[in-house]
Amino acid sequence: MKHKTTKILNILHQEHIAEHLTSLSEEHQLEMVNNINSLDLSVLSAGETSEERGSFDPLFAKTFKQIEEDSEKYTEAGLKAIKDGKVGAVLLAGGQGSRLGFDHPKGMFNIGENRELYIFECLINNILEVKEKAGAWIPLFIMTSVDNNTETREFFEQHDYFGYNSDNVWFFVQEQLPTVDTNGKLMLSAPGKISTAPNGNGGWYASMAKTGMLKVVEETGIEWLNVFAVDNVLQRIADPCFIGAVIKSGKVSGAKVVAKADPDEKVGVLCLEDGKPSIVEYYEMTEEMRTSREADGTLSYNYGVILNYLFRVDQLNKTLTVKLPLHRAFKKIKYMNENGEIITPDEPNAYKFETLVLDMVKLQDDCLAYEVDRKKEFAPVKNKTGVDSVDTARELLRFNGIEI
Ligand code: UTP
Repeated sequence: MKHKTTKILNILHQEHIAEHLTSLSEEHQLEMVNNINSLDLSVLSAGETSEERGSFDPLFAKTFKQIEEDSEKYTEAGLKAIKDGKVGAVLLAGGQGSRLGFDHPKGMFNIGENRELYIFECLINNILEVKEKAGAWIPLFIMTSVDNNTETREFFEQHDYFGYNSDNVWFFVQEQLPTVDTNGKLMLSAPGKISTAPNGNGGWYASMAKTGMLKVVEETGIEWLNVFAVDNVLQRIADPCFIGAVIKSGKVSGAKVVAKADPDEKVGVLCLEDGKPSIVEYYEMTEEMRTSREADGTLSYNYGVILNYLFRVDQLNKTLTVKLPLHRAFKKIKYMNENGEIITPDEPNAYKFETLVLDMVKLQDDCLAYEVDRKKEFAPVKNKTGVDSVDTARELLRFNGIEI
């Protein structure tokens, strides 16, 4: 068995791992062989995703003004869907939050200044508001990773789910993929253990399927899933008006979007690609796309996504057989060096492989772009200071009258 694993490692140009394997005791060799055999090593031949892009067209959003005109009708439809048990929420909390440099799950970060106010707490407070309005609990699925699952669950337990009903909270763990250094070599995280990292936020639905969560979705009759990121402390979850607007539009998905602050803002923009909803990254846009304007003066490619999507479950089921593109992300990844020392890098040093939820948008027949006010709904906590940081998020919380 060891012989075959060594052979595979050599074919894959991972001789250093083969050597490490041979240096272990018999018992640990067996463990490591099992570890290696359970990994998806196909990532080793995955290069930088250089997808051929199709032809882009603008996708116009339902603007604030349009939403406001019909907000009562939308809210009523959304609340009805929630009351009827047709809506579930999915919190993506499996990321490593390496830019924030906080050594715990990001949701455990205390964003408060004069009182304790955790990121998870902000999110639960927001979903509780909807629960109050609808008079019904919204099933909340929380995706964690192998690394942060126990801590996340314990944190929720310790804080009594911040007032949410724990019967309506479902944790599931996403999958891992091996990481590689800048030479494409696998790394060790401990003796006999290959370093892996969570496989990106695009794996959420497949992980829900693998962990049995889709049975819960099926049995409870959930028809829509609202997927959102952990790190936006102003995130509106299961927003009745948004849900109602998507349902009334007859479309199979919806995305909350914010108008770009200026043509050069570095955000992915919701658009049409070969007639299908898609997200074009800022670096993929031509000068003409960046600056082109409509007759009323608004930018043609104006609406940035904020990782808050509504998907129809029957459409998501269709995506289970599709392989999403694999992206490489350059990150700070802890590893064990040749001397057996564990190194915690200060700067990005290695690649993790991820699929992205935005690539699922492309698999939808259509998508309602739903404009929201970034000052009221978008306060991402990505960095310690500067852009999208703890400082900017605190300022926005204060702006919205939230005591911190
Ligand atoms: P980010 O792209 O900001 O990644 O995640 P990250 O790992 O949290 O942070 P950095 O880049 O290392 O600083 C956006 C959202 O997707 C989730 C995150 O938890 C966050 O809600 N995510 C990301 C996952 O759930 N799993 C992943 O593998 C990656």
